Amino acid sequence: MPQICPSILSADFARLAAEAEAVRGADWLHVDVMDNHFVPNLTLGLPVVESLRKATDIPLDCHLMIEDPDRWAPQYAEAGAGSVTFHVEAASAPIRLARDLRALGSRASMALRPATPIEPYEDLLPELDMVLLMTVEPGFGGQSFLDIMLPKIRRTRQLIDRHGLQLWLQVDGGVSASTIERCADAGADVFVAGSAVYGADDPAAAVAALRAQAKT
Ligand code: DX5
Ligand code: ZN
Repeated sequence: MPQICPSILSADFARLAAEAEAVRGADWLHVDVMDNHFVPNLTLGLPVVESLRKATDIPLDCHLMIEDPDRWAPQYAEAGAGSVTFHVEAASAPIRLARDLRALGSRASMALRPATPIEPYEDLLPELDMVLLMTVEPGFGGQSFLDIMLPKIRRTRQLIDRHGLQLWLQVDGGVSASTIERCADAGADVFVAGSAVYGADDPAAAVAALRAQAKT
């Protein structure tokens, strides 16, 4: 069953509770945390995640585009995120970090920038609940989907299957009605969509439509 995660990066930050309500039926609310160092943009941090947690029943999928996730990521698990994603390029001890996140009751997820290959991290897969493959350069919503990432999605799915793992494979960046089917065909099963959901007249209907498309 494909899962859809609307990214609040494309929502109105002054009305986050209402924007969460607007995507009722979504599987996760995708929360992009950026620190102006790992990526050239600054968004939100722990206090906002803590407030959002109380404002919605939709589980929070926190995508940390930050330096030093070893230090900060566990605090997002403690703040009640159901899933915490760290970038492997920024982590010093990804295995220890994944174990820490799981011990705190969160799902543990590892993200790769477009130019980071999955193969060196094959041995880490059993420590994880999800792999996030960026399909744009991280930092901003509304960018065009990078088609050249499709083979990497396929190779990652093959690695997951070869190890007999139940890992989720998430794609993030430029996912829309015109790209989601190709992502699903390549083996992705969790889809982040920012502008395609919040740019729609009816965001909840856009979530349902994307999910239906990913199933075909
Ligand atoms: C980009 C973020 C994405 C972003 C996706 O760095 O990680 O989650 O919100 O936005 P769209 O779906 O508009 O590409
Ligand atoms: Zn994201």
